Parts: sequence; C-alpha cells; structure tokens
Amino acid sequence: MLYLREKYPDSMIINLDKLTYAADLRHLAPLAGDANYQFVQGDITDAMLVDQLVARADAIVHFAAESHVDRSIADPGVFAMTNVVGTQVLLEAARRHGIKRYLQVSTDEVYGSLGATGYFTEQTPLAPNSPYSASKASADLFVRAYYETFGLPVVITRCSNNYGRFQHDEKLIPTLIRKALRDESLPIYGDGLNVRDWLHVEDHCRAIDLVLHQGRLGEVYNVGGHNEWTNIEIAKLILRELGKPESLISYVEDRLGHDRRYAIDPTKLHDELGWTPTWTFATGIVQVIQYFVERYRT
Ligand SMILES: NC(=O)c1ccc[n+]([C@@H]2O[C@H](COP(=O)([O-])OP(=O)(O)OC[C@H]3O[C@@H](n4cnc5c(N)ncnc54)[C@H](O)[C@@H]3O)[C@@H](O)[C@H]2O)c1
Repeated sequence: MLYLREKYPDSMIINLDKLTYAADLRHLAPLAGDANYQFVQGDITDAMLVDQLVARADAIVHFAAESHVDRSIADPGVFAMTNVVGTQVLLEAARRHGIKRYLQVSTDEVYGSLGATGYFTEQTPLAPNSPYSASKASADLFVRAYYETFGLPVVITRCSNNYGRFQHDEKLIPTLIRKALRDESLPIYGDGLNVRDWLHVEDHCRAIDLVLHQGRLGEVYNVGGHNEWTNIEIAKLILRELGKPESLISYVEDRLGHDRRYAIDPTKLHDELGWTPTWTFATGIVQVIQYFVERYRT
C-alpha cells in the first residue's frame, strides 16, 4: 500500500481488509487523510461488498490471505474459505465488472519442496504439501480457469519468503529477533537445515508492480533473489547481529509436512520485465533487525 501510494500518488487505492489478527493499521498511518485512499474493513468472501467495490476499480491486486503455515495445520478450514472461496469471489466480481487487470499474489510454496539442487520454474508442477500451500495452489487454479474460460485478464506472481519492516510478529525472522532480545530460546524446527530463499518485501512489491502493468496475460512469474539460507543460519546471523550467544538456539519437533527447500528461478521475470532485486541480504537484514529492535523496545 505504501509502495503503491509513493509510486502512483494520483491513483485511487481502495484497500479491502478484514483486519484479522494479522493486520495492523498503524503501519498505514501515513495514508491517513489521503483523499485518494479508502480503507474498507470487510471480508473478501462477502460477495455483495466485493461487488460494490470492484464496480469502482479497474485493477485488482489480491494480497488478502491467511498466510501462516502453522495456523493452516491447526485450522485448515479458514484457509480454504479465505484463500480459495475469497479468490473465487474476487474473480467473479472482476469478470462481472470487466476489470482490466487482475493480479494474484501467490507463493512459491505451491510448488512443494525441492531436494538439495534445482529451482522452481514456472513450469514446475504444483505439489503443495501444507493446507496453506494447497489453498494458495487451489486459488491459482481458479485464476487460471477464469483466464481460460472467461478470458479474464489475469497474471500470477509466485514469490519466495519475504522479510521486511512491518512483518507480523509470528513470522520466522521477527520471532527470532524478539526471542533473542528477551534472552528466550529460539525455537528451530527439526534439524534446522530447511532452506528458504529470502527476498526483501520492497523487491516483491516492485515485481508485483511490474507484472501488474507489463506482465503477459495468463502468465505466471516467479519472484526470488537467489538468496538461500537454512533456518539455523538465519538464527545464528540474528544472534551475531544482536550480540547474543548461540546457546539460545533450541531444536523443537519438526513441523508436520515441513518442506525441505524452496528456491526460485526468476529468469522469466528478469528477461521479460527487467526485474532484479535491489536489496542485498547483508543490507536488508540489518535494516530489518534494527526496525524490530526498535519495535520490541517500545
Ligand atoms: N510473507 C511472505 O513471505 C509471502 C511470500 C509469498 C507470497 N505471500 C503472499 O502475500 C500475501 C500477503 O502476505 P502477508 O505475509 O502480508 O500476509 P499476512 O497474513 O501478514 O496478512 C494478510 C492480510 O490479509 C487480511 N485478510 C485475511 N483474511 C481476509 C479476508 N477474509 N478478507 C479480507 N482480508 C483478509 C489480513 O487482515 C491481513 O491484513 C498473501 O497472499 C501471501 O500468500 C507472502
């Protein structure tokens, strides 16, 4: 939202958000009083509300989701409802109102898990392993179907793990920073060798912007910066930055269905739309650690 506003100061932005536990409107305080910004508290599964809002829009960027894998294991139903039914409600409204562009914000998790080598490309078959990734993959299939069946002008992005300011406390990097600051043990699943491909959230936003405006209709674009880290390496890096001992690390029972490795091949996005990440991890992680140190101090 903040990225959009800065890049397109004159565009009208309507932000529909249910304000679940994951939301924090304080992050959007800079938009207060902006005549070209409207916040609507509501649910994307509410077809009447969505219809009214989409009638006033020419593009939809669909971010809203249940996104935490552990929660999807504890309660898969809400993931099916928001991520699958919610997406279909948006697609239907987009179709009815002849929307010019619909962008689905998806995830690399729809591809399942990699072995020690290789990358996810846009041709990698969908093989989701958690209720979260299954719900996102299902949503992607609905998006594809609306393109094939109704000719809806859709594009899909599939991004790797994001890190950045404003991220919810429950995500891995904020959790590790918070626990380290409090000298609590840092819980690491299994052997800690699961690999994630970390991308700064602002680079994800730039990719979404490019694909929204220039992506070929009906296409999927993978987003990732070739920045693979094991979870244990991330924990050690954070401890080092904060001057805390590695003895704070504690291994806990592995997550059910825990994907071993994600790694994105972003060649298509680079070659077609000229995208490359602007943040190095070395700079980005320091910015983020400083941000959370401030946040957890206050
Ligand atoms: N965070 C990542 O690493 C990452 C990586 C790739 C893709 N994505 C995708 O990006 C999107 C945003 O991810 P995030 O990490 O910011 O998620 P998040 O869980 O932190 O935030 C989700 C937002 O969606 C809203 N929401 C939830 N259910 C809703 C509903 N039924 N109706 C309206 N609003 C609802 C919440 O209130 C919240 O503001 C998701 O679609 C996610 O799958 C995230």
